[in-house]
Amino acid sequence: MTKTAIIIGSTGLTGSHLLKILLNSEIYDKVISFVRQNTKISHPKLTQYVVDFDDTDSYKEYVEGNDMFCCLGTTIKKAGSQEAFEKVDLTYPLQFARVAATNGTKQFSIISSIGANAESDNFYLRTKGKCEEELRKLPFQSISIFRPSLLEGNRKEFRLGEKLAKYVMTLLSVFFIGKLRKYRPIKAKKVAEAMYKIARQNTVGFHVYQSDEIAELAK
Ligand SMILES: NC(=O)c1ccc[n+]([C@@H]2O[C@H](COP(=O)([O-])OP(=O)(O)OC[C@H]3O[C@@H](n4cnc5c(N)ncnc54)[C@H](OP(=O)(O)O)[C@@H]3O)[C@@H](O)[C@H]2O)c1
Repeated sequence: MTKTAIIIGSTGLTGSHLLKILLNSEIYDKVISFVRQNTKISHPKLTQYVVDFDDTDSYKEYVEGNDMFCCLGTTIKKAGSQEAFEKVDLTYPLQFARVAATNGTKQFSIISSIGANAESDNFYLRTKGKCEEELRKLPFQSISIFRPSLLEGNRKEFRLGEKLAKYVMTLLSVFFIGKLRKYRPIKAKKVAEAMYKIARQNTVGFHVYQSDEIAELAK
């Protein structure tokens, strides 16, 4: 049986890798992508909807598929405020997830972050943790949470903080062994591969994959 995949965030670093994987996959004969601006990507399997992420009515009837993947995200700096960040990393994923659950999607996979924790003092990690907790309440067959460490890959935009973090993490990476292995930076492509691999396994329940497990899955 072939299936339909739904993706949000397909224009981003990780999402663009995942979109390619889904389009080349033999298990999906249709891929539906929701974007905020038209892209030049065209593929026989791909249906792309340009929607208003603030307005569920603009997309809810099109969220029809077996497996949904969320690679949405921003930074507080890029979004301009904590409120704007929260919209992209919490409100939008949850709104899409609720619509997908209502429309019968079975599997939901999302990129969260290493250290995500709804009780954290750190706003970024608290937002990611809250998103995980809210998703857990939804009636999907499976919810897969991917918590990568610093993402590596060729980004269109320059992010000074990430460049510095990558430099420091690379210097420290010899110490990231044993339980600290999950702090090693990870290629965005590997995260996409791991998301696909787990979706293929048709799992049941709520699962959290730490960065070192994501790296193992992608091997
Ligand atoms: N960067 C890291 O080192 C790191 C580490 C751990 C976890 N993460 C998490 O991993 C996930 C993926 O990160 P990434 O770096 O691959 O993402 P990214 O390259 O920043 O891409 C983000 C995606 O979200 C979309 N998006 C952003 N703001 C939006 C808005 N206001 N409305 C609609 N769509 C919007 C973007 O669409 P446009 O193309 O239209 O902008 C793009 O498709 C994120 O949730 C991030 O928090 C990142």
